[in-house]
Amino acid sequence: MSLADQADSQIPIAETIARARETIQRWKKAGEAIAFVPTMGNLHEGHLALVRAANASGMRTIVSIFVNPLQFGKNEDLDTYPRTFDEDILKLADYKVDLVFAPTVREIYPEGKEASTTVYVPVLSDMLEGEHRPGFFTGVATVVCKLFNIIEPDAAYFGEKDYQQLLVIRRMVQDLALPIAIHSVATVREPEGLAMSSRNAYLKESLRARATEIYSCLQYVVKSVQEGMDSHYAVGHACQQLESAGFDTDYVVVRNQSDLSVPTKGDKSLIVLAAARLGNTRLIDNIPFELMQSH
Ligand code: PAF
Repeated sequence: MSLADQADSQIPIAETIARARETIQRWKKAGEAIAFVPTMGNLHEGHLALVRAANASGMRTIVSIFVNPLQFGKNEDLDTYPRTFDEDILKLADYKVDLVFAPTVREIYPEGKEASTTVYVPVLSDMLEGEHRPGFFTGVATVVCKLFNIIEPDAAYFGEKDYQQLLVIRRMVQDLALPIAIHSVATVREPEGLAMSSRNAYLKESLRARATEIYSCLQYVVKSVQEGMDSHYAVGHACQQLESAGFDTDYVVVRNQSDLSVPTKGDKSLIVLAAARLGNTRLIDNIPFELMQSH
């Protein structure tokens, strides 16, 4: 983005840690609190819902845009991940965003990402997404921890679509005694039900309609389990549905909302989570739900 465009957008953009800290310290000295929305850019309605929630807090709002190489596996889409900085800034201009922090990779990993100190959240990082994307949550926890140390926010906002990520961040904040309130915002969906995600951009037009099947399958599991069906049976049926719609399924599971452990009799606050590939696009989604009667 050119300097003229930056001036038009009216949102100050800090590319270095020193510059961000200078601004933030000024606000802190004036007794102002900070609401933080970390993103990897390519902003959609899901991100904008986080920005609205941060704005509603009445605090200063800071958004970071940083495609974090540490959370991409060797064969993943780091090089092709959509980078749309100019459009992102234009979208943010509709909100009260006091600062965009958009560092380079070198600024965040000056010694290289392989040489960086990392943050590992045990157990939660190793199941489900962690099993299919080894190292992913260490990449996320490391960069979020570093961003928290730079921004020093009072509150930070994360989407429920990445539910496991949300739990990893909450656990990290608890374990490291970081004085930051973590807020979650409900998944934002396309009208036909597909959860908004930057990776939806990879879906070929011909596959887009079929992609909604993942949400229909999750809805089927919720309804069936709430009506008393054994969750293994409901999940098995959902997997079959996904496979016949052309998905390659990594998992469909029912877990406890609090820690993603396997539910036992009497557990009531549950969540169904799924991850499946359609063509070259890997989609994840979930629906939290409650059980009324005992199962
Ligand atoms: O959810 C994301 O966009 C990323 O995982 C996050 C939290 C910005 C860390 O890079």
